[in-house]
Amino acid sequence: MYSTIQMLHSYWAYFVLLILIVAVANATIGFTSGKKFTAKDLRISLFALIFTHLQLLIGLILYFVSPNGMNIISSRGMGGMTSAERLLALEHPFVGILAIILITIGWSKHKKQETDKRAFGKIAIFYGLGLLLILSRIPWNQWLGL
Ligand code: HEM
Repeated sequence: MYSTIQMLHSYWAYFVLLILIVAVANATIGFTSGKKFTAKDLRISLFALIFTHLQLLIGLILYFVSPNGMNIISSRGMGGMTSAERLLALEHPFVGILAIILITIGWSKHKKQETDKRAFGKIAIFYGLGLLLILSRIPWNQWLGL
C-alpha cells in the first residue's frame, strides 16, 4: 500500500509540475500580449487545478501511511527531527497545501474578472506563487536521487 501510493505521488509530480509551468507561462503570455481568454486557456488552467488537487489527495493519504510523514513526528517529536526529516514530514506537506490553496483562490478569482487581461493576471500570479512554493519544498534529493 505505502509503496504504491508513494510511487503514484512521485510520478504524478512530473505531470503536476509540467501542467503548472504550462499554465503559468500561458497566463503570463496572455496577460502581456492582451489576448482573449479562450476555452483553451480555461482548459489549461482547469487541468492544472485538477492535477494539483489530485496530488493533494494522494499526498494526504501518503502522509498517514508513509514512515516519513506523520509517523516520524509521532516517534521523534517536533524538535527531534533532522532537517531532511522535517522537510518530508512538515515543510513539504504544509507548504504544498498552502500552494494548492493559492492556486484554488486564483482559479476562483479569475472567473470574477471583468477583462480577459485581469483573468490571465489572476492565474499568472496565484498559480505562479503556488508553483514557486511547491518548487521550494520538493524533496529533490530523495525524488531525483541527487
Ligand atoms: C503540491 C504538489 C506536490 C508535489 C508536486 C509533490 C511532490 C512530491 C515529490 C516529488 C516527493 C518525493 C517522492 C519520492 O521521493 O519519490 C514527495 C514526497 C512526499 N509528499 Fe508530496 N507533493 C505535493 C504535495 C503534497 C501534499 C499536499 C502532501 C501531504 C499533505 C504531500 C506529502 C508527501 C509526503 C508525506 C512525502 C514523503 C513520502 C515518503 O518519502 O514516504 N505532498 N512529494
